[in-house]
Amino acid sequence: MNIILLGAPGAGKGTQARVLVDGNGMVQLSTGDMLRAARNSGTEMGRRVAAIMDAGKLVTDEVVIGLIAEQLEADHGDHDGGFIFDGFPRTLAQADALGALLDARGLHLAAVVELRVDDEALVERVTGRFTCGNCGEVYHDITRPTKVEGTCDVCGSHDLKRRADDNADSLRQRLLEYYKKTSPLIGYYHAKGKLRVVDGLQPVATVTKAVDLALQG
Ligand code: AP5
Repeated sequence: MNIILLGAPGAGKGTQARVLVDGNGMVQLSTGDMLRAARNSGTEMGRRVAAIMDAGKLVTDEVVIGLIAEQLEADHGDHDGGFIFDGFPRTLAQADALGALLDARGLHLAAVVELRVDDEALVERVTGRFTCGNCGEVYHDITRPTKVEGTCDVCGSHDLKRRADDNADSLRQRLLEYYKKTSPLIGYYHAKGKLRVVDGLQPVATVTKAVDLALQG
């Protein structure tokens, strides 16, 4: 089953994607993770995307569509589930491109799950977030701290990081970009009969159950 997780920054897309990967053998394709890998690579392209991400703006459609096309091209189909598109598409042009990429491979988009969270909660979530630099597990200072301070619960790494764009200024810009360029996708996928809306304000496990239910419907 191929699905899109749609939602504002901090809505819980990455958190729910990891649950779906573990439980359903799906493959997570996160353009945010791919761009962070590019920025850490030290290349010219990495330097360019770093500046855009830190400012809370969207990277060009051409770059992110290229990243997704590469991943789909490299896929050998040796996994049980389908793809979870996390943070992609974010513009109407990206949505059209994804439709064409899936069609070209004979793949079907099952559903688009919108995680809906109000802006106030997003600020708290994003400013309290940290992740494991080794395995990618996502934590939060208050709602999901590590069991042992400074140590990842999953892999034991001490490499816990905060994102450069997880501050109130950058988040304000990311939200503006979301409402201007990404939220039109809600209507786009509703018109295609693919949209499922989930209340993302509930605790993580409750959101997971609601996502499962939405995917069955
Ligand atoms: P990206 O990495 O995609 O960031 P984002 O969309 O801003 O989303 P986040 O990763 O911030 O949040 P999330 O929804 O995954 O929430 P999470 O599960 O971590 O993109 C970063 C940048 O890259 C963009 O700004 C842009 O520059 C560029 N980019 C990426 N894709 C692009 C594209 N397609 N086109 C152009 N540019 C692109 O949860 C957040 C926190 O909340 C965590 O601490 C978590 O523990 C906590 N939490 C999660 N769920 C709950 C819950 N139910 N209750 C309480 N706490 C919760």
